[in-house]
Amino acid sequence: MSLQKLSRREMLERSMFATAAAIAARHVIEPVAHAQESSVPSNTIRVAITGVNGRGGSHISELKKRKGAEIAAIIDVDEAVGQRNCDALEKELGRRPAFFTDIRKCLEDKSIDAVSIATPNHWHSLAAIWSMQAGKDVYVEKPVSHNVSEGRRCVQVARKHKKICQTGTQSRSEQGMRDAIAFIHAGGIGEVKLARGLCYKRRGSIGPRGVYEPPKTVDYDIWSGPAPLKPVTRPKFHYDWHWQWDYGNGDLGNQGIHQMDIARWGLQVADLGEGVLSYGGRLGYEDAGETANSQVCIHKYGDKRLVFETRGLPTPNYKGAKILETEANKGAGVGVIFYGTEGYVIMPSYSSGIVFDKDGKVVKEFKGGGDHFGNFLAACRSRKHEDLNADILEGHLSSALCHLGNISYRLGQQIPVAAIKERLANDVEALGTFDRFSEHLTENKVDVADTKGYFGLDLTLDGKKEIFTGSHADAANPMLTREYRKPFVVPAEKDV
Ligand SMILES: NC(=O)c1ccc[n+]([C@@H]2O[C@H](COP(=O)([O-])OP(=O)(O)OC[C@H]3O[C@@H](n4cnc5c(N)ncnc54)[C@H](O)[C@@H]3O)[C@@H](O)[C@H]2O)c1
Repeated sequence: MSLQKLSRREMLERSMFATAAAIAARHVIEPVAHAQESSVPSNTIRVAITGVNGRGGSHISELKKRKGAEIAAIIDVDEAVGQRNCDALEKELGRRPAFFTDIRKCLEDKSIDAVSIATPNHWHSLAAIWSMQAGKDVYVEKPVSHNVSEGRRCVQVARKHKKICQTGTQSRSEQGMRDAIAFIHAGGIGEVKLARGLCYKRRGSIGPRGVYEPPKTVDYDIWSGPAPLKPVTRPKFHYDWHWQWDYGNGDLGNQGIHQMDIARWGLQVADLGEGVLSYGGRLGYEDAGETANSQVCIHKYGDKRLVFETRGLPTPNYKGAKILETEANKGAGVGVIFYGTEGYVIMPSYSSGIVFDKDGKVVKEFKGGGDHFGNFLAACRSRKHEDLNADILEGHLSSALCHLGNISYRLGQQIPVAAIKERLANDVEALGTFDRFSEHLTENKVDVADTKGYFGLDLTLDGKKEIFTGSHADAANPMLTREYRKPFVVPAEKDV
């Protein structure tokens, strides 16, 4: 922590030096040095924000006006994006942050206390791990990982290096959500055996697959990082990586992770469960995207189920059950529905929950916002990860559920969508969910008899050990990790 006050001129010189150093070092590959553990921050927490094109902009707005935090550096492999944000901050605050294109260079600066990460998903865990190994606390966007194993590694690094690591699932700090979840945990709707996550969010085609040039201002080697260095095959470089497996996790791991997290939180399950089955497809258009735009995942926890529905084609909100089909119930599009023996709770937003009794009458409502970044900064000061509302362990478990769904899906067999029904045996809940899935596709002019989707492998798990078991283990276990492209390698457990 640097407590010294620098003059504006010194600041400018410092940032110009940092910028020049970063440009000179663009292609230099060095391992990250393990810095000494930082002490308890007592004054301003100096933060480096990593990846500032979209969500990183919100990190900037969240941090720039806070007492007790300073945006000390911006890191972005797109020099144009990074410098634009530095310009804007300098104009607004009269102080220009240092700029880096390579996170490793920034991590050498011992005066940086914390790193916030809003890069594409395939960089999240590695950036978080390197940052913590270099002595920094971390705020890492959701999903915290691109695969199950690197998420667990993040948890191990955080604990070993005694670092604070907050997940960017901000619902966890919203008072309305916290109260609604506490109500469910206290038995407010009786016993809850089913949670349904909904990610009904329109996603159009991203344009034709082809070979495209990355923007000239991007260091594409670092952008690719742990992923294979391949030609760009999507027309829009930023953001649309979400829909390509090397970098993203589809909408399940994009919007869906927020609702997956709420569903798992409400169900009070703290491992990866006993099994997962997923089906769906990228239906309704052909484009450069690879991930499903229509998908169902069923996670099994003993007699509890977490069912997750992703729909990228137009669809109305879902009200939850026949008994809830009333005028008063607006249902949810991006939300979660809990089914209890004594009633239901629908979370139609990040910060609210509506309680219905068994007859479908509204009996209670929870509302209210929160301060997720404030919670992070407070925990950086207290040095207690228990003070975090979304500790990395929670982020890892919920992100992992998204990855498991995608593993089942990707190992699946292509069959006509209508034929999926026959494979679902006599599970009433699964059949009901499939019928609604199929009707929705028909409404969107997808011929379910003729169009093929993926019927995923029905996978069994040791949810505590975080490995697949059973007859499909050999096919599924390698997908818990990835082949890392050197030097962008998530360290083995023994090397954390
Ligand atoms: N919590 C939320 O509500 C929320 C909302 C939106 C997005 N997100 C998450 O934020 C992340 C970023 O999303 P986005 O829409 O801003 O994506 P984006 O592609 O628009 O922006 C990512 C930025 O990161 C930069 N980048 C890539 N690799 C980098 C690296 N190694 N070091 C530094 N910079 C790097 C890119 O150049 C780009 O400027 C995603 O993981 C997404 O899931 C969270």
